[in-house]
Amino acid sequence: MESLGQDRPITVLVVDDNAANRELAQQTLLDEGYAVVLATNGLEAIAAFSAPSSVPPDCVLLDVRMPTMDGFEACLRIREAPGGKDVPVIFLTALRDVDTFDRALEVGGDDFLTKPVRPPELLVRVKSALEIRRMRLELGEQYELMRGQRDHLMRAQLMKERLMAFVVHDLKNPVNAMDLHAQLLLRNKGLADDVRATVAQMRSEAKNLTRMISNLLDIAKADEGKLDVKLVGVEIARMVDDVLLELTPMASAHAVTLDSAIEVKSVTADRDLLWRLLANLIENAVRHTPRDGRVTVSVVEVAGEVEVAVRDTGPGVPPSMRERIFDPFVQLDAQGVHASRGGRGLGLAFCKLAATAHGGALVVDDASPGAVFRLRLPRVLPS
Ligand SMILES: Nc1ncnc2c1ncn2[C@@H]1O[C@H](COP(=O)(O)OP(=O)(O)OP(=O)(O)O)[C@@H](O)[C@H]1O
Ligand SMILES: [Mg+2]
Repeated sequence: MESLGQDRPITVLVVDDNAANRELAQQTLLDEGYAVVLATNGLEAIAAFSAPSSVPPDCVLLDVRMPTMDGFEACLRIREAPGGKDVPVIFLTALRDVDTFDRALEVGGDDFLTKPVRPPELLVRVKSALEIRRMRLELGEQYELMRGQRDHLMRAQLMKERLMAFVVHDLKNPVNAMDLHAQLLLRNKGLADDVRATVAQMRSEAKNLTRMISNLLDIAKADEGKLDVKLVGVEIARMVDDVLLELTPMASAHAVTLDSAIEVKSVTADRDLLWRLLANLIENAVRHTPRDGRVTVSVVEVAGEVEVAVRDTGPGVPPSMRERIFDPFVQLDAQGVHASRGGRGLGLAFCKLAATAHGGALVVDDASPGAVFRLRLPRVLPS
């Protein structure tokens, strides 16, 4: 039995109009020894505090959207009810956004749990809400400070999520639309050569932008441990050909020859991540190769692993920088070694994370002349 040093179990009031949600929360809490009181809307929740005979609940799980009276209004009223001033109120909400969070705090909420609620998370939040209340009573001012810091962190996290959602939907879509319009233009047979070249350039810039956006997103995902790898069998010769084909206009513009030597039939990898790994490495190689140079992609089997190597005939990477160039925002170009063209130093950071997420590795070596980036992928069966 969970108790607060009193001789009755801790009582949690669960307020939700959805019966299945109520039941899940109730079962989870009962299994842990809590007592549970149920309410289906805000009015019933307030009644649980106002009933003269009953003891007020020790903690409230409060749904936001409910008929009759929503969670925000109910929270305001609970704060005025007897025994409701200090009771921890945890909002349950399907909306994980800054506005809901701000509103929840404004009406006196203590925490914020996103639906669908996972039982272990629910228990942790209830426990910590009760613990925080105990500390609040004990520590007063200190508590206010800590709570302020936690709210600040939570808000920053939600802002980051909103920014990421903005990047995915609001930036990717117009870039894709631009590319589509450029493709439509290119279908026009009567287009003058110089116009055609300009439109092709627009397409290549749009692709570049999409590549950078995707790199940025995946780096953020990997930071949060959310970079998913969907392993499938990939016909590697075909993928290399397709990526090289996509980068041919850029290579031609730099007068760089693209080549491949593939000795492995298939690899086990995430198709999208592997494609972008190749595209980033080959794009870098082309950009750093002087005119009439060559970029070669080879795939061989080494000691039971697959090694994908991208080799160029450019200036190479100085030994002192061979680890650092994989850090985000690191560019040698900025130090005047090579000419920059508006990249942000995110490509290799993404590549490294994607390689690691595959259980593989990515390193750079000297190819004298030039650099060779070696991606090692373990030989595993697709799950
Ligand atoms: N093949 C290469 N030869 C020489 N230097 C390279 C090569 N590839 C990458 N670099 C150096 O490593 C830096 C980081 O590469 P990275 O791909 O992360 O960023 P970027 O290409 O500058 O920008 P982004 O990929 O974000 O558009 C580059 O700026 C460049 O200085
Ligand atoms: Mg790059």
